[in-house]
Amino acid sequence: MKIKTQSKTITDKEEAKQFLAKFKIYADYWIPESSDENISDPLLKYKKQIQKLKENFSYASADVCAMSKDTQNLDKMLSAFVKEHHHTDDEVRFVVSGEGIFGINPLNEPSFEIFVETGDLLLVPAYTRHWFNLTDKKNICCIRVFKENPKWEAIYDLMHPPGINVSLNP
Ligand SMILES: [Fe+2]
Repeated sequence: MKIKTQSKTITDKEEAKQFLAKFKIYADYWIPESSDENISDPLLKYKKQIQKLKENFSYASADVCAMSKDTQNLDKMLSAFVKEHHHTDDEVRFVVSGEGIFGINPLNEPSFEIFVETGDLLLVPAYTRHWFNLTDKKNICCIRVFKENPKWEAIYDLMHPPGINVSLNP
């Protein structure tokens, strides 16, 4: 994980965690509990960590989402993510492989970017204005964790009343 602000770049993991905590963003770093090479399903590979996360933050479900150069309509999918938005649920992403960039707009402070890669966990709280993009490698596989059933709804309008959804499901 690497954070790029207007004035500095943070590469130290603990410093990154502390910086993000100021914006109520929780970050962590996971290594697979199981060293069994035969386990390919990320939800099994990180089963214990996901369970713990669900208990600690009252999350209900998890799924896996992958995007690569081979993904159909990749540009169309990305166009939904790269525009600043927020959600009524937390955006919880654990990077199983690949990399990406989250942009955060705290509104009362300058925006900053978080570069995430394999092993990085990020909990962006509901209503936090943010965007997401892939890096030039155009490859990421993430575990997503939700309060309820898996859903992804973006609210682009900053002034849109919270809780009333302008829905978009790519
Ligand atoms: Fe989002």
